Amino acid sequence: MPDESAVRGMTSPESVRVPGDKSITHRLLLMAALAPGASEVAGALTSLDARSTAAVLRRLGVSVSPLRAGSLVRVVGRPQFRPFDGSLHCGNSGTTARLLLGILASQSITATVTGDRSLRQRPMARITDPLSQMGARIRPPGGDRLPITIAGGSLRALRHIMPVSSAQVKGCLLFAGLAGGVPVALREPNGLSRDHTERLLRAFGYRVATEDGWIAFEPTGRLEPFRAEVPGDASSAAFLVGYALLASGGPLRISSVGLNPTRTHYLEVLRRMGAAITVEADEAMHGEPVGDIIASPGMLRGVVVAREEIPSLIDEIPMLAVLASQAEGTTVFHDVGELRVKESDRLGLLAHNLGILGADAQVVGDDLVVQGSDRPLRGLVRTEGDHRLAMAFSVLGAARGGQVEVDDLACSAVSFPGFPQLLARLARSSR
Ligand code: S3P
Repeated sequence: MPDESAVRGMTSPESVRVPGDKSITHRLLLMAALAPGASEVAGALTSLDARSTAAVLRRLGVSVSPLRAGSLVRVVGRPQFRPFDGSLHCGNSGTTARLLLGILASQSITATVTGDRSLRQRPMARITDPLSQMGARIRPPGGDRLPITIAGGSLRALRHIMPVSSAQVKGCLLFAGLAGGVPVALREPNGLSRDHTERLLRAFGYRVATEDGWIAFEPTGRLEPFRAEVPGDASSAAFLVGYALLASGGPLRISSVGLNPTRTHYLEVLRRMGAAITVEADEAMHGEPVGDIIASPGMLRGVVVAREEIPSLIDEIPMLAVLASQAEGTTVFHDVGELRVKESDRLGLLAHNLGILGADAQVVGDDLVVQGSDRPLRGLVRTEGDHRLAMAFSVLGAARGGQVEVDDLACSAVSFPGFPQLLARLARSSR
């Protein structure tokens, strides 16, 4: 029998929520756009990236109600998009651009897709090559940078080994198969990236088999309008977990977060680093596990993160690297070259900024090596508008006495609206 007085006397952890999952929001909006009729999405992310997806869909003739925190998003889909003038601007959102190009590959319109300065520098041949193989006409041919013009039409089946393990590439090609009604079989080269597209397709009745390292989609069934709910974003939760581990306050509960294992591997790495983290699972939504994460402050130690682990914690490396700078010993992240082509050169900027603050971090080939120390870090972080760098370093500043500042925390609105206010509130309450 538990001692009830002890249970009653325990302080319950402070509880916070994070906004809706970015990857799932993009995918549900795009799937709703293809379903003929009215769909509803609850708990959708309302960040700048999610708004980019809503905005391009509206230009294509899909009705999408305004994205407002706490409101349902209503999407009236149309399997064939409407021609439009000008180009489709995806802002900073790589997921919007890549998934959209997959869908446009089978639409009987010609469309030009572009984005902001950061997005126009990101590689696209990883999707334009296989889309061309499927029969999409792409200009410039072999186009590796936005703007890219795509003329859709009827597509051929695809069997393809992807050059990188990437959920954006996988999602693009599976959506091309979905919208174009053709089978698609894909293989990821080094570790599995997030599998939201596969899970959602299965939840909507499609056959997506995984066998011998191949992911095989069959265009069985029809996409019907749906009502879906988006769990909290596990990558946004990572910043709050990071804060809870570093700050001197008590435990922090982050509730109703997506717990898909291809997204929560950072929790395993943090446990290896010695972090006290527990997870309470709840009911799954559309094949996506959901629950609470409870993280408590404590000492961390350096670890080695292997190449195959990277795709399932790709967005958490900024937070993990910052935490590694505060751990005892050395942390090595193997084969993280992909970070060079994220919203910024995240690899270079992580090492640069940790160095500016007085920590020791080196890029060795494609590895990132961070030496932990208890030396106080101080200085101004250059984010180049990268939301995840801004949030990871601002957590360090908030948890360790405010000596670390970031040049632009407003860019956190790309994925986590309200983050600066939430962090400030947590910092006030743990003082
Ligand atoms: C995403 C995939 C990831 C991630 C991005 C969102 C997605 O990119 O970095 O923030 O929703 O598919 P890659 O899997 O292409 O590395």
